[in-house]
Amino acid sequence: MGKRYTLPIPFGWYGIAFSDELNVGDVKALHYFGRDLVLFRTESGEAKVLDAYCPHLGAHLGIGGTVKGETIACPFHGWQFNGEGYVEEIPYAEKIPPRADGKQCIRFYPVVELNKAIWCWYHPDDIDPLFEVFRIDELYSDEWDDFIHRDWVVNAAIQETAENAADKAHFAFVHRSQDVPFGEIKHDGYQRHAHLTATSPAMLEDGTLDETGEHWCDFFIDTSNNGPGQTWQRFTGIFDTLMMGLVIPIDDDHIHLRFAFKQKKDQNELQQIMAQGLIDELSGQVEEDIPIWNNKAYRAQPLLCDGDGPISQFRKWFSQFYAEPLVEEEVIKGNEKAPDIEELKNKIMTREINSEQ
Ligand code: FES
Ligand SMILES: [Fe+2]
Repeated sequence: MGKRYTLPIPFGWYGIAFSDELNVGDVKALHYFGRDLVLFRTESGEAKVLDAYCPHLGAHLGIGGTVKGETIACPFHGWQFNGEGYVEEIPYAEKIPPRADGKQCIRFYPVVELNKAIWCWYHPDDIDPLFEVFRIDELYSDEWDDFIHRDWVVNAAIQETAENAADKAHFAFVHRSQDVPFGEIKHDGYQRHAHLTATSPAMLEDGTLDETGEHWCDFFIDTSNNGPGQTWQRFTGIFDTLMMGLVIPIDDDHIHLRFAFKQKKDQNELQQIMAQGLIDELSGQVEEDIPIWNNKAYRAQPLLCDGDGPISQFRKWFSQFYAEPLVEEEVIKGNEKAPDIEELKNKIMTREINSEQ
């Protein structure tokens, strides 16, 4: 059987946890980027990410490891490593062995804590960050409520789920929404922005919607991506909702998709109901997409038509996040190679002969 996906894990910043999921002194075992990792928060409050396995005799630092000061202590023999993967202390040895002394001995991942999340930079060749996490100002304002979280694990490559936004035709078939306007799309280096204006019945002074059809107002949806792992959407005009999406590769064909919604506090009851309806609608759309994502194959050379939306432009933008150029070959599950008819006949014959014996 061939793999359904041939796409490697793209490089970028990935939100591997929300800040409030990691208190001072907490240690967590994670599995992202096809690697076992340990995430911990030091006593001074810094979040750190290392590969999980101890260079001494291989214990998993995330299972039973403890924070000591600015280091993590291995559960097996107590060696202490700082957040950059250097040995700081071996409790029972007189000196640090030369192979480790002053040298990094565990792979570490650059970490930034921003937007109430812990972002980890992944690059398959361990190249330093090429861009920054984008700061979302609303997340620092007390005019907005707490996060409402939604979480999914999807059996798909990260490019495939992201492509959905550019896949115009699927909205009618998977989500039953008609006439999805696409608005203006801007590809800007590592970022991508889509600005869309829709029309809605206006909200009247008494907080109800105009049902006469006379008063209309604009409703704006601004969707942005900063690399493959950070996405956010702002809904403004009739009510205010913000969605920050974390997209984290678990391995090359599974992703963890995490949506965190925020609503503006000073909204009337109807606006709150509409904002909640939007959260349910967007989450419902993900759940409608999941059976497609979980079972589809990646088409490197898709057969596209004029109503499909800007899929090719999206792929071109996304391809910059691969360390190596993609091998654009089709590998479809169960269909890697056309069977040789003669060989097949021989197999059948052999079976017939065997069954006669
Ligand atoms: S295996 Fe980690 S200290 Fe020995
Ligand atoms: Fe979708």
